[in-house]
Amino acid sequence: MSAPYVSKTADADGRFNYDAEETDVWRTLYTRQMKTLAPFACRAYLDGQAQLGFSPDHIPQVSEVDARLGELTGAGVEPVAALIPQKQFSTLLSQRRFPVATFIRRREDLDYIEEPDIFHEVFGHCPMLTDPEFCKFMERFGELALSLPAGQIKRLYRLWWFTVEFGLIREDGQIKAFGAGIMSSPSEAAHAAAGQAETLPFDLLTIFRTDYRIDIVQPVYFVIDDFGQLAESLNADIPSLLEEAERKGDLPRRFDLAA
Ligand SMILES: [Fe+2]
Repeated sequence: MSAPYVSKTADADGRFNYDAEETDVWRTLYTRQMKTLAPFACRAYLDGQAQLGFSPDHIPQVSEVDARLGELTGAGVEPVAALIPQKQFSTLLSQRRFPVATFIRRREDLDYIEEPDIFHEVFGHCPMLTDPEFCKFMERFGELALSLPAGQIKRLYRLWWFTVEFGLIREDGQIKAFGAGIMSSPSEAAHAAAGQAETLPFDLLTIFRTDYRIDIVQPVYFVIDDFGQLAESLNADIPSLLEEAERKGDLPRRFDLAA
């Protein structure tokens, strides 16, 4: 088993330093992912990448991404050591601030790591934070999470999983991706782009009744029509829908439970 990842510490100027090997891991991942994503990522994601000035040759500095997002949508990124408690996570979202880990995976973990690294956080998530409707969804999702009783949070976060992490969108009659778990994972991107997995129309109750596993490629994806639909979905009576989902129970699983 390889050594656990250690979070990076910013220098006196607030910069995180990456060595040549780490930059090369970024370059390898970036180049490989763009072969799949250039035709498969949604417009908002690709435009966002351009607006943030991402390049294969340079791991972006969190402070630079933060400043640019602030200009574009009033969103921002907050460097965090690792996975943070749900309440802290939801609070940051409600402030339009996205928590980001700053370490990068090692070459032997190129295809998959369970914990989010900077390639997932910045390459995967940040381009979507340039979209105003997406940011509205994020902010309201955070507020909602903070307002719900603890017993409903896990089910609510299924909505986060099936959209922000693994969402698909219909664009000009084609299905495109916007979820960061697809953008940052070579195996997930290839699987989703191949169109073999089941796709379902975006529906809150169905999502709240759909379980998932974090360590397999997803057997089902939900497809939104546009980001306005996503933001407006939170106008629904979410506590009642969560209660209804709880009462009706989960839909049959499309995967085996982990051993
Ligand atoms: Fe994520």
